[in-house]
Amino acid sequence: MGNLAHSWQVYAVCFFAAIGGFCFGYDTGIISGVLTMKHFINLMTDGTQIELTSLQTGTITGLLLAGCFVGALVASPSAEYFSRKRSIILGSCIFMVGAGIQCGTRGYAMMIVGRAIAGIGIGMLSMLIPLYQSELAPKEIRGRLISLQQFMITTGLMVAFWVNVGGDKIDSDASFRIPLGIQIAPALILALGASFLPYSPRWLVSKNRNEEALTVLANLHANGDKTSPYVVQEYEDIVHQIEYERSVAVTSYLELLKPGLRRRLILGILIQVFQQFTGINSIMYYAPKIFQQAGIDGNSASLIASGVNGVLNMLATIPAIVYLDRLGRRMTLISGALLMGTCMLLAGIVMGACGEVNPDPAHPGSGDKVVDMSGNKAASYFCIVMIYFFVAGFAYSWGPVGWVYPAEIFPVSVRSKGNSIATAANWLMNFVISEIVPVMLSKITWGTYIFFGCCCGVMSVCVYIFFPETKGRSLEEMDSVFTGSVFAFRAQAAPNIGTVEINATEKVESKEEF
Ligand code: BGC
Repeated sequence: MGNLAHSWQVYAVCFFAAIGGFCFGYDTGIISGVLTMKHFINLMTDGTQIELTSLQTGTITGLLLAGCFVGALVASPSAEYFSRKRSIILGSCIFMVGAGIQCGTRGYAMMIVGRAIAGIGIGMLSMLIPLYQSELAPKEIRGRLISLQQFMITTGLMVAFWVNVGGDKIDSDASFRIPLGIQIAPALILALGASFLPYSPRWLVSKNRNEEALTVLANLHANGDKTSPYVVQEYEDIVHQIEYERSVAVTSYLELLKPGLRRRLILGILIQVFQQFTGINSIMYYAPKIFQQAGIDGNSASLIASGVNGVLNMLATIPAIVYLDRLGRRMTLISGALLMGTCMLLAGIVMGACGEVNPDPAHPGSGDKVVDMSGNKAASYFCIVMIYFFVAGFAYSWGPVGWVYPAEIFPVSVRSKGNSIATAANWLMNFVISEIVPVMLSKITWGTYIFFGCCCGVMSVCVYIFFPETKGRSLEEMDSVFTGSVFAFRAQAAPNIGTVEINATEKVESKEEF
């Protein structure tokens, strides 16, 4: 039975859906290189500037994130009404339109419109893919399957980085049009291929299409055998749960604020906010600058340092794919936060102790500062190694689990709503971080790392106290996981479940207290 539950079909479907993650990673990664390309700057400024102003770069990057925020929110009604599957197709199509506009841009206005539209597509996909994967995945490997999205995000980031390196060598508008246009290909593959993907069985049951749901479950988990005990059990659990949810009418956004669900909403939002406050994007967005500050001189050296960073980010996601369902969400998050926090603190302390803080020569008289580590090679290499460990720490923990946890904790009737709000919180904080980090780097320099190091420390404590373990639990069992004390460390370890049968009456009696 166990083997049946892990059929290749479910891996194939979840991996295919994760192409949406590739678009996410590629589009967020490609822009940093494009913004510095001379032909791009020329077009954006009608040849009047040799560099974009910070307002221009801020608008081009910020509008994508604003679009993502909106996309994450609109994806929920779409997922409920049109289905998860059709919404993935819609998200991919919107993304293609945005990417097409960017690729064919004739100037600044068109570019920012393209960014905002592409953002809506990415925001939708970033919320829909984990939601869809969570509803298809067998509980024993749900963490692994949703982690595939993070793997594809990091693959997209890495590919974007190297495409930028190649694009930079072209001496025409193609230098930026090719990198911006390439992303249409994976989105097209996703849009076309997704029409062959199954509907989410949970969504089908919620629309009274029970027979189709049973067929999907059988195809995914038992090579079409509708009588397989695993399939029958899962089907019955889903039907019971949805009947129960109908009986208590949990459907509106406001329900998320009621005692039964408020705790999950808070934890879902918190995990996404925390994911951004690990400081990962302070590294991902500003890596070349940081590596230069840490003492790597010359363009090609900092290019290599950033390229290695991208490859490491991708490879270090693999342990999550392999071990997340064994280690559990709590252990992964706590260990990741402790590792990242330690690295950030050590990097900050060493930079502060060994580096020289000077006025920024690029902005004289502005009060902006830079750290110069060139006087102490050993210390500067130490900081770079710390940054690498930090990125690896994120890649196996908060990167994937940030997407896994909110997608799995809500009851089906409000799962898309809850996950969409949590995802929107991630994009909002992504925007905040992208705005504050450059200011922090130029005002408090190494203090930036101390700040994020402390954030990671706080997160590890919060997870220990408040976040219950969800590994190995079916989506239908989440009500019981979040019932009782808000102090997660007091909760009993999850039983190694076959499936715990909880009927509707028991659930009503055991509603959460918080
Ligand atoms: C985060 C992104 C980040 C990426 C880095 C994702 O999980 O949401 O903000 O840039 O991981 O790998």
